[in-house]
Amino acid sequence: MSAEIIDGRKVAELTRARVREDVQDWKAKGNRAPFLQVVLVGDDPASKVYIGAKTKACEDVGIETATEILQDTISAKELKSVIRGYNEDNSIDGILVQLPLPSHLSSHDVIETIDHRKDVDGFHPMNVGRLALCQPCFKSCTPAGVMELFKHYSIPVKSKHAVVIGASNIVGSPMSIMLSRENYTGKATTTICHKYTKDLTRHTINADILVVAAGQPHLIKAEMVKEGAVIIDVGINRVADETSEKGYKLVGDVDFGSVQKKASWITPVPGGVGPMTVAMLMKNTLLAAKKSIYPDS
Ligand code: GUN
Repeated sequence: MSAEIIDGRKVAELTRARVREDVQDWKAKGNRAPFLQVVLVGDDPASKVYIGAKTKACEDVGIETATEILQDTISAKELKSVIRGYNEDNSIDGILVQLPLPSHLSSHDVIETIDHRKDVDGFHPMNVGRLALCQPCFKSCTPAGVMELFKHYSIPVKSKHAVVIGASNIVGSPMSIMLSRENYTGKATTTICHKYTKDLTRHTINADILVVAAGQPHLIKAEMVKEGAVIIDVGINRVADETSEKGYKLVGDVDFGSVQKKASWITPVPGGVGPMTVAMLMKNTLLAAKKSIYPDS
């Protein structure tokens, strides 16, 4: 067997095209363009790359955006005061604080300061809680992007055994909630594995759907995977590569070459899940502008 490739770039472009059209309609009705306020604390190079991709996507779909860069010495009190200002500003629809934050700042504390109605990352406890209760909410962009890929390719999820590797707040945990609970694409029997899991293969070998968000290059090998499984690789790891101009290449958490021969569907890295994250952020920002999730605000 050789797996079909899940083309995240293509599905992300389709998603962005829908958002672009909706933004035009929204503006044609006399509304201003949606506005996304991004906050970067410090100058982490990877965060700058991610913000660059988000800014470019905003321009592409007609969403306005600004990035405020704050010194990495900023106090929690000052940062929260900046965020409260954004909460009260009616010209701002979505607020995104790029993570990770410097170690003296608590990301929980900072995220909780964001008005949940502007939390387009879907990280606020109100949104995570509502996700777990199957209520309308902003959904974390990466797992929401994975669900969109299942939908686009009509990959069945209901009653399948889904295994998620990684239990982070951003990916693994909301992913497991969406897979197990969501109405249309969810209803899988779901297992979450993490660094304390004993004998990972015992779980992965039984997965009809395997979502890997461990941050470990090539963790998943062919012998750990069930014949015909759907493999979703959320990992983006830089590994040294002398043949590349940059001196590194991006690889996923899955050993693509060997696993592709056994799976039915697989996402590549790059070009799989990555582009979907940014596309879903565009969707969330439009939903925030239209007050679609929280209409009474
Ligand atoms: N850092 C890594 N991924 C993300 C994300 O999706 N949102 C934010 N705000 N920070 C991140």
